[in-house]
Amino acid sequence: MGDDTLIEQVRRRYLAVNGDHPMTEDDDAYVRRHFVEATPEAMGLMLEDRLPLPSYLLSDGTPMVPAAHGALAEVAGGVDALHDWFVAFWPDDAATAEAEWGHYLSGQYVCLKEVSPIRIRMKTARVAEAAAAIERLRRDPHDEIGRGLIGQAVDGVLAVPGLDAILLPMTAYDRLRFGGPTVRETWVDGPRREFLTPVAPVWPLRTERLLLRPWRAGDEAALAEAWADEDYVSLLLTGTQNAAEVAEMVRRRSDPGDGMLVGLVAEHDGEVVGDSLLILQGTGLSEGEIGWTVLPRHTGRGYATEAARAVLRMAFEHYGLRRVVANLDARNDRSAALCERLGMRRETHRLGDFWSKGRWTDSYEYALLREEWRAQQS
Ligand SMILES: CC(C)(COP(=O)(O)OP(=O)(O)OC[C@H]1O[C@@H](n2cnc3c(N)ncnc32)[C@H](O)[C@@H]1OP(=O)(O)O)[C@@H](O)C(=O)NCCC(=O)NCCS
Repeated sequence: MGDDTLIEQVRRRYLAVNGDHPMTEDDDAYVRRHFVEATPEAMGLMLEDRLPLPSYLLSDGTPMVPAAHGALAEVAGGVDALHDWFVAFWPDDAATAEAEWGHYLSGQYVCLKEVSPIRIRMKTARVAEAAAAIERLRRDPHDEIGRGLIGQAVDGVLAVPGLDAILLPMTAYDRLRFGGPTVRETWVDGPRREFLTPVAPVWPLRTERLLLRPWRAGDEAALAEAWADEDYVSLLLTGTQNAAEVAEMVRRRSDPGDGMLVGLVAEHDGEVVGDSLLILQGTGLSEGEIGWTVLPRHTGRGYATEAARAVLRMAFEHYGLRRVVANLDARNDRSAALCERLGMRRETHRLGDFWSKGRWTDSYEYALLREEWRAQQS
């Protein structure tokens, strides 16, 4: 009876903060997955404004809190120390500190996987970066500061987690109580769709002698002989492949997937002469890795150079990349010569870092920045 009264008081406080909106079965299931039932002890502390109110009420009225509800108080050295410990994370901004404390106590920080001052500060910083990035990128989709900011905001860099890693998906109920899209929809899904989802150029690309187009069924006929040849594959990542494996490789490469791997076949006079590859990667998808092959009977005519130049143009002009790299086995003299012909710089010579076909070998990384490429064009 005593507990019922406690629950009723907590429910009233909750409804005063959140309004009365229906929870669907899916919402209930989501909340049960990510949150736990509040204990009577925690409910008592909520009513004294010493611990956050519930994050949700299930449709049967059960108050639900984050699994770590109360854990911050232990870190802080006890519930009584929690407020001062919390606001100390905003040492120069008492107004923000108290506003964040109030929001924390309301239980409405449901966007965060882990509700803590550190994560709250991270979320605020990442959202500010995303907002700045969106403004820049709507003006110029290739703005390199915008690309860096959006990449860090959404996906993070090195030790900096992005919003994708720290935000929960939230529910239809949250859209009702907060009156709009969820935080994740606004700051992860939207920006990812608008700025981090590659859109392919119109195919084919044409150069003086070549046509570059996506892979398609039937390309295996031109490749089978080369891929069965030990010499041809000796400096590639994979070993020899039989006809069935080549056909399967072609089938996989013919699927554009998420657009991050742009695989192209080069044709001369209707005959397949080789292929080129651009993998979009790096913070804000601002870097690409380029790759190439020319079938043995077509080498020595400059086809790889011509195809790679078209791929570099596509990388910098269409995809707006700021840097393109090539990684190669250091024994691959022809590939290194090709990099040099393209004006790429050898940035790295890694000693014995690459295990390939039964031995350790050195590898090179070549790179070309957008401004270097532009200077070549003039
Ligand atoms: C790496 C690879 C693509 C290089 O092929 P390539 O034929 O040497 O390169 P190109 O098609 O650009 O041709 C350049 C050669 O053609 C000559 N050439 C003739 N006409 C030319 C033209 N119009 N423009 C440029 N070069 C021309 C160049 O002088 C050069 O010859 P050289 O090496 O004797 O000086 C090829 O060796 C290959 O497919 N190897 C196996 C797969 C592989 O290792 N891939 C790379 C993995 S990192």
